[in-house]
Amino acid sequence: MEKILDLITAEMSKAFAACGYDESYARVVLSNRPDLCEYQCNGAMAAAKAYKKRPFDIASEVVTKLQGSREQSPLFSLIEAAMPGFINLRLNGEFLAGYLNGMSREEKLGLEEPGRGETIIVDYGGANVAKPLHVGHLRSAVIGESVKRMGSFLGYHMIGDVHLGDWGLQMGLIIEELRDRKPDLVYFDESYTGEYPQEPPFTIGELEEIYPAASKKSKEDGNFKERAQTATFKLQNGYKPFHAIWEHIMAVSLADLKKNYDRLDVHFELWKGESDAEAYIPWLIEDLQKKGLAYESQGALVVDITQESDSKELPPCIIRKSDGAALYATSDLGTILEREKLYSPRKYIYITDKRQELHFIQVFRVAKMAGYIKEETPMVHIGFGTMNGKDGKPFKTRDGGIMRLEHLIADIDEAVYNRIRENRTMTDEEAEKTAKIVGLAALKYGDLSNQAAKDYIFDLERFSSFEGNTGPYILYTIVRIKSILKKYQEASGGQAVSGEILEAAGDTEKMLMLELANYNEVLENAFAETAPHKLCQYIYDLANAFNGFYRDNKILAQQDKTRQAGWIHLIILAKDVLSVCIHLLGFDAPEQM
Ligand code: ARG
Repeated sequence: MEKILDLITAEMSKAFAACGYDESYARVVLSNRPDLCEYQCNGAMAAAKAYKKRPFDIASEVVTKLQGSREQSPLFSLIEAAMPGFINLRLNGEFLAGYLNGMSREEKLGLEEPGRGETIIVDYGGANVAKPLHVGHLRSAVIGESVKRMGSFLGYHMIGDVHLGDWGLQMGLIIEELRDRKPDLVYFDESYTGEYPQEPPFTIGELEEIYPAASKKSKEDGNFKERAQTATFKLQNGYKPFHAIWEHIMAVSLADLKKNYDRLDVHFELWKGESDAEAYIPWLIEDLQKKGLAYESQGALVVDITQESDSKELPPCIIRKSDGAALYATSDLGTILEREKLYSPRKYIYITDKRQELHFIQVFRVAKMAGYIKEETPMVHIGFGTMNGKDGKPFKTRDGGIMRLEHLIADIDEAVYNRIRENRTMTDEEAEKTAKIVGLAALKYGDLSNQAAKDYIFDLERFSSFEGNTGPYILYTIVRIKSILKKYQEASGGQAVSGEILEAAGDTEKMLMLELANYNEVLENAFAETAPHKLCQYIYDLANAFNGFYRDNKILAQQDKTRQAGWIHLIILAKDVLSVCIHLLGFDAPEQM
């Protein structure tokens, strides 16, 4: 369905044109003074400069034109010019009800699919193999999953790639630590020529312990660190025994990662990683040199990325270190080559900590300069801020360690569980199941409702509250609607509801209807700007609008059955819009809570 704002703007454009003004001034926006009007057009102010007239005169002229054609235009119940040159509008109630009935009939509630199957790669998650997922990886997973779900719903072919860190120094560290612990393993016997065992030489529990131990050792023991570097280098250059260990690390760690991502309801189309880029790197380095982009500098191979328009000087992108090792940027460029070859996406979206901003500027520029990516292909890096504790410092465990993601999830589930137990009569088992659903919403909404680039404070109390701008509040609203619908069904003996949404009879009813009508606009915009927080803001406003309506109208006690059926249709639509939106944010509602 066409968006309400576009419908109104089209109407306004006709009036501007009929008065001899350019249509570009006719853009209508949501009102920022809901007490005065629902929508407004501010174009007369800009037009005044171009046409050298008073803004109010232009606004009045357009208003008169619109009022004159009121008979033809069923859109408005109020059209008025206000000082200094605003045009204030209210929607005609019948038109609005008709629009909502249209939404109810459509499969995606009136959403069009601007995507038309175009491929977009979303690079998110970014877990590092053999290191446990920690809260730092939470934001990437949560934001990325939501962006991907929105894109798919809008008709894009979204490919989510977890892009594992599976090729770095942590591998050499683990190999050398393993050697110290179990020197008799065949992988360390240089004269061994047989097949390597199928059975991994460690469990996930051991692996999780090996990496931190090795990492600590490498900081204290320079010799150990050098060994780890050599092992990494050997692995990257195809040394068979180490590759066999690597395979085991991958298998054991991946099973665990998948379990954790599943728990977050985060799912990837591709489980690729830095190691997959390896095959492209020799060609890449040669090509960058051939094109005259890469040159030697102090033994390293670098590409200059400065552009005239830069306001500050940017360091060159290092492609190969003096010791021959490839780097993070090299691996991202290799990955781009592979993605172009396999998927030729129309757009790339990367979601990482904002401290990686420079890295992505460098990589994107090199990829475009070398022609690996078309000039017009958008390369978007969403850099997110830090999740802080209540002390304003990066979130830590009580004893100051790095919080593991699974512990964080367990904490929030428990907080929600206690709340549910406090005020509801559910069996323990039900409460536990519900707490998991609500806990996930608390966690994800707590994150997504902040603008990604900003730091935020992880506040367990606030996030898990059933009131205020929280995930549980949104779920609670949906559950409340479900419960009204159930009671209505019971009272009507399970008959299908007749009728349709009617023109609003009261203010809060109309407010709810106006919010619902914004749905397709908000969703398209939230995706276009890669801004899930805008969808959160919308559902919070919508939930508030519903609760205002619910406070003012006794739905189940309504005697006028046509009116009652109209309300039932209205709240079904509210439930459906809310449910679609939370699903796109990455969580769902329980049956009760
Ligand atoms: N593994 C990286 C980290 O933990 C994130 C990877 C992000 N994706 C990318 N293509 N560089 O920081």
